[in-house]
Amino acid sequence: MSDSSDAPILAIETSCDETAAAVCCGSHILSNIVLSQIPLHKPFWGTVPEVAARAHLRWLLPVVERALKEANVSISDLAAVAATQKPGLIGALLVGLTAAKTLALCTKKPLVAVDHLLAHIYAAFMATNASPPCVALLVSGGHTCLYRVESVLDAVLLGKTIDDAAGEAFDKVARMLNLSYPGGPAIEKAAKGKRPAIRFPRSLLGENSLDFSFSGLKTAVLYYLKGQDGRGRSEPLDVDVGEIAASFQEAVVDVLVEKSLRALRATGIRRLIVVGGVAANSRLRQALASTAAERRFELFIPPHNLCTDNAAMVAGLAHHLLKAGRIAPLSIDAQPN
Ligand code: KG4
Ligand code: ZN
Repeated sequence: MSDSSDAPILAIETSCDETAAAVCCGSHILSNIVLSQIPLHKPFWGTVPEVAARAHLRWLLPVVERALKEANVSISDLAAVAATQKPGLIGALLVGLTAAKTLALCTKKPLVAVDHLLAHIYAAFMATNASPPCVALLVSGGHTCLYRVESVLDAVLLGKTIDDAAGEAFDKVARMLNLSYPGGPAIEKAAKGKRPAIRFPRSLLGENSLDFSFSGLKTAVLYYLKGQDGRGRSEPLDVDVGEIAASFQEAVVDVLVEKSLRALRATGIRRLIVVGGVAANSRLRQALASTAAERRFELFIPPHNLCTDNAAMVAGLAHHLLKAGRIAPLSIDAQPN
């Protein structure tokens, strides 16, 4: 979507629980440093906003220094400084955005404010041959949305979750199954080689809906674990955790595939990109790939490290914002929602 002769942009991503900085020339990644806070949040089975903000504060400058060093770029070489401005945890966003503003002010470089969700979508344009127009399925810990992507800078929301995000459901079910945090990789591992023998409900919210709902599925797993799955048992089961994990994963995958097909049908577009942390799931990738071959649409999914939160996708999108003259004022505020 751009080439390596573009001037480097430094981007900062601190919207949730990854402290990340990257330097990119257009779509060409010179460095992409991600310091995961997972060990800090693991004991709580979820991201603790205050812990996340404090860790960003402690780790951000070393992460930025490492990104510049690995890219072999000095601050004076930069075309701009970018940061995720929305959406995310307010304390976490503020750390990254304030750092970017300060760097921009001190070095007299333009500031670029980036939407985290558009940046996730951009990861597909950056790392694959995909280009707009396309349908984007964004599946992460905080979001499950379908978009019609008109251009790199412009996506129209088609549907979203009315309760839990897909990644959130993975995280909560992993906790029920006593696996570990984050739940997605833990469930994927437990499900490996297991049959999805339990038929958990697939909530499709009516025939044409492009919205998602995962809370009923989560409750169904809970009831199953309690032995109250409507089959008259009231005693806890001697459960096969792997089989439950595989059955839950299959239900989520079925819903994501069906909703993506609906969005392709509704828009008449034959190109699907899938981004966000849950797009790292190999069963989802496999199911989408076979559906794409069968139904004859193009499918693009970025590699794992660009599916989960990272700053390279922010730098990549910032390049297009900068080219379009979308420079942010230093007074810009972080927006949590
Ligand atoms: O995009 P991301 O890194 O952060 C957010 O913006 O939320 O996504 C994190 C989410 C977590 O809920 C995690 O459990 C899920 O992505 N995830 C996965 C896998 N890897 C990460 N879900 C299913 N399978 C995976 N392999
Ligand atoms: Zn994200």
